[in-house]
Amino acid sequence: MTDLLVTGVAGFIGSNFVYHYLRRYPDDTIIGIDALTYAGNLENLASLPEKEKTRFRFVKADITDRQAIENIFRKHPVEGIIHFAAESHVDRSIHDPGSFLRTNVLGTGNLLDQARKYLKGGQFLQVSTDEVYGTLGATGSFSESTPLDPHSPYSASKASADLLVKAYFDTYGLPVFITRCSNNYGPYQFPEKLIPLIIRNALNHQPLPVYGDGRQVRDWLYVDDHCNAIDLVYRKGTPGGIYNIGGNNEWENIEIVKLIISLLQEETGDLGINESLIRHVQDRPGHDRRYAIDSTKIRSELGWKPEISFPDGIRSTIKWYLTHRDWVEHVISGEYQLFYQENYGARLG
Ligand code: NAD
Ligand code: TYD
Repeated sequence: MTDLLVTGVAGFIGSNFVYHYLRRYPDDTIIGIDALTYAGNLENLASLPEKEKTRFRFVKADITDRQAIENIFRKHPVEGIIHFAAESHVDRSIHDPGSFLRTNVLGTGNLLDQARKYLKGGQFLQVSTDEVYGTLGATGSFSESTPLDPHSPYSASKASADLLVKAYFDTYGLPVFITRCSNNYGPYQFPEKLIPLIIRNALNHQPLPVYGDGRQVRDWLYVDDHCNAIDLVYRKGTPGGIYNIGGNNEWENIEIVKLIISLLQEETGDLGINESLIRHVQDRPGHDRRYAIDSTKIRSELGWKPEISFPDGIRSTIKWYLTHRDWVEHVISGEYQLFYQENYGARLG
């Protein structure tokens, strides 16, 4: 029996993918690895049904650790790799680019090396991001042939990793895929990203930080639709292919913040949650103005489309955070608090 190796399983999208995959394929097994950084929490996987837990094995490992990764390949026959593990937050990458280079570039390089040695025809899917394309003006969208033009240390490290993945296809014939998705939202997203951060602060009547004028645009996709797309590319995609994934769902940040306020007010009846909490704060350096994805290729070649409408997805996400307030407080205890106090404390006053 072979396992699918999934990296970053204790993070936001990785944990959602484990739920998705074990539910959909009742005979398949996953070996999940994660270094359990501040963003990785095994509690994210605690709701796996008992039957599915038996098909999931967790190994704590850092993807940059050559020996640890090699040991996994030696011990467990691996049929393929879905690679989510990364440092993923742009603001952190501005303060500590080194950890992004280490995990996102060197870690991906290490995995590729081991994959080349041990995979024996198995496939490697690199979960990348639309941020590698840089920024758009008021119109247009990113296609798979848009030139790479990353602006943050985060997106530059992801673009670098993508180039390594491509090189392993071109040089060694490793069957790889690269997926580039727009911003995700949904359960288990660490509350340093826009949507869960705004939900948490609003519930606590704390200031809601909006960077600059708040008119930056992101294309939001429900996390399960992203998982579906990854699954489809892994099973039916063309090796060496790049697939853009997006929801055709563009929102200005300020409008998302206002929407969350109104939905939270509706769900809780708490009038203290209102727009007076909004604070325009200093803009993020190198802030990309607009992202929009042209996902024609995955739609026409693989028949993918988003299943969850934004009104449904955002409401169910808000309900999830309302019923998981303990989870939120638990995952942000410790290191997160310190980081934000040191780097953003002043902004929120
Ligand atoms: P996340 O930060 O929630 O999770 C990342 C996980 O990787 C964490 O569990 C962390 O512990 C683990 N990790 C970090 N460094 C590691 C290391 N050296 N070794 C092993 N594990 C390590 O991130 P996410 O939002 O779930 O993103 C997952 C992937 O999807 C990333 O590659 C990201 O670039 C990509 N992506 C994210 C979005 C988004 O909107 N969140 C959109 C497109 C693509
Ligand atoms: P984020 O969730 O960090 O994702 P990304 O930077 O990868 O797109 O941020 C989404 C958008 O929201 C981005 O334009 C930055 C902005 N933002 C705020 O205005 N305030 C915040 O507190 C955060 C975290 C983000």
